[in-house]
Amino acid sequence: MNISKTEEVYELIPSAKRLIKSLRDIGYDFSTAVADLVDNSIEAGASIVDIQVIFSGNNSFVRISDNGKGMSMSELKEAMRYGSERTYHKEDLGKFGLGLKTASMSQCQCFSIASRKDKSKDIVSFTWDLDHIEKVNRWEIFSPKNEKLIEVLYDPLKNQTGIVVLWEKLDRILGYKRPYGDKARIKLNSMCRELEEYLAMVFHKFLSNEIPGKKLEIFINNNKIGPWDPFARKEPNSKQLSEIKIDLEHEGISGDLILKPYILPAKEEFTSFGAFQNSAGPANWNQQQGFYIYRSNRMIQSGGWCGLRTIDEHTKLCRIELSFSPQFDNAFKINVAKMTVQLPMQVRELIDETISPIVKLAREYYDRKNKSSSKPHHKPDHTPPLKNQTDSKGSSFLHFGDNPYNPNEQSLFTQNLFTLDEIEEKANNLATEKEKHVIKSIFQRLRKALFKGE
Ligand SMILES: Nc1ncnc2c1ncn2[C@@H]1O[C@H](COP(=O)(O)OP(=O)(O)O)[C@@H](O)[C@H]1O
Ligand SMILES: [Mg+2]
Repeated sequence: MNISKTEEVYELIPSAKRLIKSLRDIGYDFSTAVADLVDNSIEAGASIVDIQVIFSGNNSFVRISDNGKGMSMSELKEAMRYGSERTYHKEDLGKFGLGLKTASMSQCQCFSIASRKDKSKDIVSFTWDLDHIEKVNRWEIFSPKNEKLIEVLYDPLKNQTGIVVLWEKLDRILGYKRPYGDKARIKLNSMCRELEEYLAMVFHKFLSNEIPGKKLEIFINNNKIGPWDPFARKEPNSKQLSEIKIDLEHEGISGDLILKPYILPAKEEFTSFGAFQNSAGPANWNQQQGFYIYRSNRMIQSGGWCGLRTIDEHTKLCRIELSFSPQFDNAFKINVAKMTVQLPMQVRELIDETISPIVKLAREYYDRKNKSSSKPHHKPDHTPPLKNQTDSKGSSFLHFGDNPYNPNEQSLFTQNLFTLDEIEEKANNLATEKEKHVIKSIFQRLRKALFKGE
């Protein structure tokens, strides 16, 4: 709608105290709030993020510092604005210009940020404080003056560029009437453990140094966090199946979604019981099956089937990496806290069809392993009898070619997938009596190669 010059317009500035307070409940918890700040640090080129969680009753604080490029005074001032302005690039982790503020305020009533862009220049800092907003009801920040606070805030920047975020008045984190009590201390401790697990998971690709130019170390109270790889790729029996590309077109943008399916080893195939337990993941084996959705290499969702299928003990070894680029944020309906996404409507069915044989394969693998572990010793010395057509539907699937999926030829994709049993049956139908035993031993070897140890 065009508004003519003669029409009167009115600017309505939102009530600062009401909006800032309601934005506290935008969906973050402690771990996701810290993760949003780590996103910022990665984007600022930091190689080290240091998190200090200090318990001291009402004076408890969380301090998150990085050694990234930092911000100048004017950049920091803009960054403090709710809905800060900036140009985003294709693979940037940021999105709404809100994370720094909303993530921080979701956990505390007062946060300060110090920044140093150039080692030869002074450190600059600003504070958002709910008490102040409550009083003035304006979108006002101020420069911190308290010397003790400044000491804690500036300390990490003594010898480096970067920023420091300091959360104080941790009402949401402690939330106890007696913030000095044991309950509050224990709660903070367990939140730190959860945070460690969460960061190890969502940033595992950065922590394991597999993203070129984005090496990252994260410390919580001086302990270095190691990566948690949902696909147990260091385990020799973890299997990666062929990568699949899915074309996506949304709001005039086209690009690929990448699926990388894995079948994890069964319990007895892990190199150690510890490795098996570790691969269970934060929510344990059953809940951790399904999609691992990554946006610019940062995990947004871990496990679950996005409503395409239900969690099932028999398919728990199946985990599928799904990566999308931030240009498809709208298609995935990512929320501000970067905690939830939805599969784009236009490819839901296709993804379902695509993963269906993979999940079947994982299920078959699990069933076979379960069966063989219940049979105490010998390995079968002959190929199991051929199943009839209906039975064999759930058998081993083979992908032919690197990328079986061609978006314009869906039928080709389905044609290209056969169960091992089906192929063996087809070969047998074509073979002479003499050739049949050769086919049998080839398929025996093939099964062994595909499922080591069988
Ligand atoms: N650790 C950091 N180092 C340097 N600049 C930062 C850092 N964190 C945030 N910024 C700047 O502040 C801006 C606002 O951050 P944020 O509120 O998280 O929004 P977004 O990340 O969506 O842009 C960022 O766009 C970035 O320019
Ligand atoms: Mg951000």
